[in-house]
Amino acid sequence: QHKVIYDTDPGVDDAMALVFQALHGDIELLGITSVFGNATVETTTRNACYLAARFAPGVPVARGAQAPLKRTAPEPLGWIHGDDGLGNLGVSATLDGEARAALDARPAHRFIVDTVRAYPGEVTLIAVGPLTNLALALAEDPQVATLVKQVVVMGGAFGTDGIHGNVTPAAEANMLGDPDAADIVFGASWPVAIVGLDVTQKTIMTTDYLAAIRDRGGEAGRFVWDVSRHYEDFHRASAELDGIYVHDSSAVAYVLAPHLYTTRSGPVRALTEGIAVGHTVQKPVSLTVPAPDWDDRPSCTVCVGVDTEAMLALYERTL
Ligand code: BDR
Ligand code: CA
Repeated sequence: QHKVIYDTDPGVDDAMALVFQALHGDIELLGITSVFGNATVETTTRNACYLAARFAPGVPVARGAQAPLKRTAPEPLGWIHGDDGLGNLGVSATLDGEARAALDARPAHRFIVDTVRAYPGEVTLIAVGPLTNLALALAEDPQVATLVKQVVVMGGAFGTDGIHGNVTPAAEANMLGDPDAADIVFGASWPVAIVGLDVTQKTIMTTDYLAAIRDRGGEAGRFVWDVSRHYEDFHRASAELDGIYVHDSSAVAYVLAPHLYTTRSGPVRALTEGIAVGHTVQKPVSLTVPAPDWDDRPSCTVCVGVDTEAMLALYERTL
């Protein structure tokens, strides 16, 4: 079993990935940490509490950063994830005492440090929002980098199909959310795997696929359908897709079945300034000239290919 802390900004696809983890027997959820991103941290924390109460009862939620390390918080992405961050399901009205009870007293970065220290060498961090909480955990206790089993990040884009971003031509949303934090996380001495747009935009849940989940996946399946209606409208309008990209659940799939992904190794930087702020760049193994800003950094594993059918089958089976 993988002991997981899920760092997240729910978020429609974050919620779909939470259900995936909660239902899969190979994952033991130790906690959920919230961060600003798809909505304000007030909203993403409330959503995390709601999701925990409904799908992962007893799993604590720790509230995280409300803004990036060095900049002001970006505008919530209401037109993508709904004004409530959960596809306009109206969750705020339904948050009751049970949901609030999940809330841990500690801030997210403290929760991460304490939990990693409680299970040295065992904890996998699945991070699917801006990476601020992870950078704050490293700042608070740099040794956590040596105590974490692995960090799996949904974020970035490495241009395998000419795609470098989804919010600017050069940047993916989670990287642009806090580029300084991303560059810190990719430079720390923990094993990092990055599941970016190179694979998440190749993995598509079609309307028919989601309807099958709705019809055969019980309460969780019906929730996945309901929560994704607004998100699907956004994909139809913006990308003419008959379905949705599978971003955050791809990070979960990587933890469960890394063999479904082809990868490249090498140090990674996130650009923190200029017109390409938030852009992610990996030094290729084939580049033998010195690259001083990359060479003294640890190698990261970047996903560049995916067996989409097997990934989608894994999610469907789990639901
Ligand atoms: C990422 O950005 C967010 O909007 C999604 O939840 C996902 O984590 C995709 O770029
Ligand atoms: Ca997310």
